[in-house]
Amino acid sequence: MDSVFLNKAAAAGLLSIAVAWICSAVASGFVPANVPVKPAFSVPGAENVSIAPYMAHADADRGEELARQICSSCHALVSAAADGVGPNLASVAGRPIATAAGYAYSSALLAQKEHVWSDQALSDWLTSPARFAPGTRMSFVGISSPEQRADIIAYLHRLAE
Ligand code: HEC
Repeated sequence: MDSVFLNKAAAAGLLSIAVAWICSAVASGFVPANVPVKPAFSVPGAENVSIAPYMAHADADRGEELARQICSSCHALVSAAADGVGPNLASVAGRPIATAAGYAYSSALLAQKEHVWSDQALSDWLTSPARFAPGTRMSFVGISSPEQRADIIAYLHRLAE
């Protein structure tokens, strides 16, 4: 191996390092290294929405229809009826989370016990149970329409009366 070859090899090595450095310097000018404060996009219906404006126009009758279609396969909707797969929902609105007597809740929901089922909590739960309480046993994908959630929450209030 002669020294000219070694010189060429060293020059090639240095040149590739220089080119890589320049490329990375130029590229970082285009792509900021820090994470954006706001995500560039969000999945529709996956973010928590303030439910109060929707509660003002909620329709408990429509909510009853939806609850019969969607919730009643797992939940009793009449007070004193036995729990189904899920706990009886008769007085759930305004009640502390995971406190129906005699129902064996998941530890995911029991961890939320200090909170109350406010309208907002119910709305966030019904948007995505798995996101509200990761590990919950309520295997339900969620309701993306805030109007429908408000209708159901209004119906749950009527059940609690
Ligand atoms: C596939 C069955 C299933 C469906 C459908 C379902 N739930 Fe549930 N739900 C459950 C289970 C199971 C739990 C208990 C979850 C736990 O312990 O993690 C639960 C818990 C709840 C709780 C908490 C109760 C408490 O005492 O803290 C509320 C509120 C609730 N569901 C509302 C609803 C509503 C409203 C619907 C209809 C839109 C619905 N669920 C549909 C199975 C279901």
